Parts: sequence; structure tokens; C-alpha cells
Amino acid sequence: MTVRADILFAADLHGHRPFYEQALALARSLGARALLFGGDLAPHADPPAQSAFFQAYFLPLLREYRSEPGAAEVHYILGNDDWRASLPPLLQAGVTGMHHAHLAVRPLAAGGWIAGLASVPATPFLMKDWERWEDGLSEMTRWEGYRSEPDGTLRPFDFTGCEKAESIAGDLAEIARVEGTPRDPLVCLFHAPPHGTALDQIRGGFHVGSREIRAFLLRRRPLLALHGHIHESPEVSGRYVDRVGETLCVNPGQRLGEKLHAVWFDMADVPGTLTHSIYGRAGR
Ligand SMILES: [Fe+2]
Repeated sequence: MTVRADILFAADLHGHRPFYEQALALARSLGARALLFGGDLAPHADPPAQSAFFQAYFLPLLREYRSEPGAAEVHYILGNDDWRASLPPLLQAGVTGMHHAHLAVRPLAAGGWIAGLASVPATPFLMKDWERWEDGLSEMTRWEGYRSEPDGTLRPFDFTGCEKAESIAGDLAEIARVEGTPRDPLVCLFHAPPHGTALDQIRGGFHVGSREIRAFLLRRRPLLALHGHIHESPEVSGRYVDRVGETLCVNPGQRLGEKLHAVWFDMADVPGTLTHSIYGRAGR
């Protein structure tokens, strides 16, 4: 039986080339109309090494894929492990049908709309380009780290004294502003998962997702929210799907092993068609 699906989604590929090859092969075999990448696309490295990955591998691969007849449109965000300095070359590459989704709301070829958010609540890590304030941050949060300049140099950055100047709530308000009147059905492509779900658990079952994203989903009620960031959560919780209010939420996880964690579905029946590359059907 040939399986077909409108949309293919994966996050946290972290520059793993076999994962990109698997994602494109899956998009071809499913006949996907949209391929969504949910952040943490580059290898964990300094800005020049990430830039080299995008220039020498990612962009040529995607440019070639997009030239194929029937290729899916691509929507992507970066994640907290991708330096912001990597973004301008991606935007300037001019690959047709490849769209940066952060703080944007765009139509999907498969029907509906997509809204993107790369921002994550501040973490214990050093890369601070996409980190933002929200209430309830863990005691493990590190306030100092680095942000990247457009030329790829790093400058020390410290949230102390300007903690609330940039917030997840502020970014979500920007998405609402860009959207204007509600565009439904809406698919959210948000790197950070909502707090207190099966999708935001680290080892020990502690929840580290975003409270503001959870509140946004309850308020805005999108059809679907696609997340990454907490690679181990589906393994820890035993589920890759959860609900926040009426919104179906998904974090496929990523083990950085041999096989890509990804999900695919049809827009007309997301709960009935949602399938994981390793864990299988979500079920009705
Ligand atoms: Fe990641």
C-alpha cells in the first residue's frame, strides 16, 4: 500500500546528514505538499562551522530538492542550538518555495496556515540568540552566555538587568499582530513545547516547556502545534502526542541515532492520519 500524506514534520536534525536525506526521501514517497523543519537544524558548533554546514550542504540539498517536479514547499525555523548569524545567508539564498516561518503567518499549500516561533524559555546552555524570558524559569537557568553578530563573531550576553526586555509573551503577541484576524486552520511550528505536557519532559519527568506557549495555545486554539527542543520527551513520557485544550500537540523527539524521528499527516484528518516514523500511528 502506498502511504500518502500532506505534511511531513521533523525537528532537531542537528546537522545530521542522513536525517536530511531521510526527510527528503520521506517527503518524496509520501507526496508531501509541505515539509516543515522545527529548529535546531545545524550541527552544534560555532557560527562559522554552522554557516559552512548551511552553505556547503543544507542549501544545495534543498535547492536541488525544490527543483524536482512536485517537491514539497519547505517552511523552517531555527532553534536555540542554531546561531542567529546563520539566518541572513539562508534568507538571501533565494531558494524558491523555502520559507522562514519565525514570527510569520503564511498559507500552507496543503490548506490552512502556518505560524512559526524559534524562541525558547531561557535555558542552562550558553547559546542565547533565541532565548527569551518567561515567568517560572527553572533554577538551572543560566543568565550569561553568548549571542552571535551578523558577521559570525560572538559577544558575551547577560540577561541580568534586562531579563524581561525580550519575552516569549512578547513574541507570541507579535505572531498575533502579524496574523491579524484568525487564519484557520492554523498549524503552529514552535521549537519549544508547551509546559506540563507529554512533550516537554526531561529525564526524571521534569517539565521544562513554555508556560506562555501553553497559554497561547489555550487562547488561540490552533488545529495543531508542532514542537521539538526536548529530544527525550517522547521516550520519557511514552507519548509523542498530547492535547492542550482543543489543540493537538506533537513532539516527535530525536535520538540522534540512525533513524529520523518525524511525523506525517493529512490536514483534513490530523488525529486519524498522524503517524510517527518510529512509534507509528497516534490512533484515534
Ligand atoms: Fe535540539
